[in-house]
Amino acid sequence: MLRRIHEAIVDNDVTYEEYQAAKQWFIDVGEAGEWPLFFDVYVEHVVEEHNFSNRPGSQGTILGPFHLPDAPVLEAPFELPHRPDEPGDKTVFRGRVTDPDGNPLADANLDVWQADSEGRYSSFMPGPPEGNLRGQVRTDADGRYEVRTVVPGPYTIPLDGPTGRFTAAAGWSPWRPAHIHLIVSADGYEPLVTQLFIASSDYLDSDVASAVKPELIVQPQPSDDAPGWLEFEYDFALAPARAPAVA
Ligand code: BEZ
Ligand code: FE
Repeated sequence: MLRRIHEAIVDNDVTYEEYQAAKQWFIDVGEAGEWPLFFDVYVEHVVEEHNFSNRPGSQGTILGPFHLPDAPVLEAPFELPHRPDEPGDKTVFRGRVTDPDGNPLADANLDVWQADSEGRYSSFMPGPPEGNLRGQVRTDADGRYEVRTVVPGPYTIPLDGPTGRFTAAAGWSPWRPAHIHLIVSADGYEPLVTQLFIASSDYLDSDVASAVKPELIVQPQPSDDAPGWLEFEYDFALAPARAPAVA
């Protein structure tokens, strides 16, 4: 990192004034508590692509800063906890968790979290109560799972802090397209950190976090069986766990 910073100073003919401004901006990011945000917006996608581009199984993408461990494990009908008047289009998604050859993984865990239809994450943004739209479900003996929720909305990263100012100064869009986060895990397999992006969302082509992959775009459609609900299917294939490094 230091070598690259030194090279950038020389290549860009950085002045003392620019050095002081950059130093202050780094201090501002820390004081605003925005290092997790900044790294996950602008750095994590390269780490993810570099580490997992050759991994067998389903595509992953970035974790981001809004995951909380220990969300409740849900029983049927596998509905993410929500307010009685939760706004947004009701949707159910279902599918299978398998190994890369399509063999079902029973008792796999899907840890699911998402923003509400107005793009707000519980515990991180004002509005939704704690635990809103966060939960875990397990697959059945055939590797099948189901989750009931609402379609999330797109959201901007905070605009008023140093990360937002950096983004505006660069002339980039601060929006993330609508998405549902998952960590899919099973004993003996690599956990899959991923997101499912809603096809009808704006900003799929301009995600500030550069995390969209075509394989992760889903298209909720009106359900024939459940009037008033949308539905879509998605299967996850997990890569076998890597052998631990020998000392
Ligand atoms: C998110 O997916 O929620 C996210 C990712 C990176 C930065 C900010 C948010
Ligand atoms: Fe997110």
